[in-house]
Amino acid sequence: MRMEGRCAVVTGAGSGLGRAIAVRLAAEGALVVVAGDKEQPLEETAALITDAGGQACAVRCDVSREEEVVALMRRAVERFGRIDVLVNNAGVEFAKRAEDTTVQEWDWLMDVNLKGVFLCAKHALPVLRDGGGGVVVNVASELALVGSEAVAAYSASKAGVLQLTRALAVDHAGDRIRVNALSPGVILTDLLQTALDSTGDAAARRKEFEERTLLKRLGTPEEAAEAVLFLASDQSSYMTGANLVLDGGWTAH
Ligand SMILES: NC(=O)c1ccc[n+]([C@@H]2O[C@H](COP(=O)([O-])OP(=O)(O)OC[C@H]3O[C@@H](n4cnc5c(N)ncnc54)[C@H](O)[C@@H]3O)[C@@H](O)[C@H]2O)c1
Repeated sequence: MRMEGRCAVVTGAGSGLGRAIAVRLAAEGALVVVAGDKEQPLEETAALITDAGGQACAVRCDVSREEEVVALMRRAVERFGRIDVLVNNAGVEFAKRAEDTTVQEWDWLMDVNLKGVFLCAKHALPVLRDGGGGVVVNVASELALVGSEAVAAYSASKAGVLQLTRALAVDHAGDRIRVNALSPGVILTDLLQTALDSTGDAAARRKEFEERTLLKRLGTPEEAAEAVLFLASDQSSYMTGANLVLDGGWTAH
């Protein structure tokens, strides 16, 4: 029970990595606030946790809207009395080159992927500090580290998340708050499936992705959740400002 009694706020917890992270943290004793922009999937994640004997609370929140983020953190404190862990996992993606991306598409993606991390950190950090410290885990991407086809806005947003992670780590080490990033590679979720489908030949693209990794397969949300548990728990007590790459070897060659 590595997270016993600790309150964790997980964004984008209605599906994919976020759901797996919420379930994994709860299995280790965390009191989990599952947040996201769609209500029904959040209720399903919360039910998975409570059915397994854990404690969870679902809060609808668009992370790009400050007033909703403020309400999310307030609700977490009302429900569990504190926040010890913030997992900034909510994210969106579309496959376009810069010249094909509209300003509206750019702004929308940056608002969710980068401003959302800033807003959640801004409004959770004072609560973590007042509670004596804590942990922030930001979900970035291997595409923050290497280039790839038709992901201009997404790559830029995730590189921003990595640098924001370092900035937050510097500013809050004195508050006993550790801030780290996880950079997943290709993990089979709705987001990845949509990206595969948009290519017109999902099976061929999937095969191509698998071949690009050293381990010759996609990762699972549960494998990503295990890494987030490590970063969120005392097991990573000497890590801050770091980026943990979980990509089956994609960026190693
Ligand atoms: N799947 C991969 O291969 C992969 C690789 C690298 C990084 N990531 C990152 O992992 C994170 C989770 O992605 P996933 O693959 O599980 O995708 P997903 O689409 O299953 O999950 C994303 C979640 O974020 C939520 N969300 C979207 N916009 C939101 C908003 N404005 N406010 C609140 N919640 C919002 C969605 O409802 C969804 O539940 C994302 O940040 C993504 O960029 C995924």
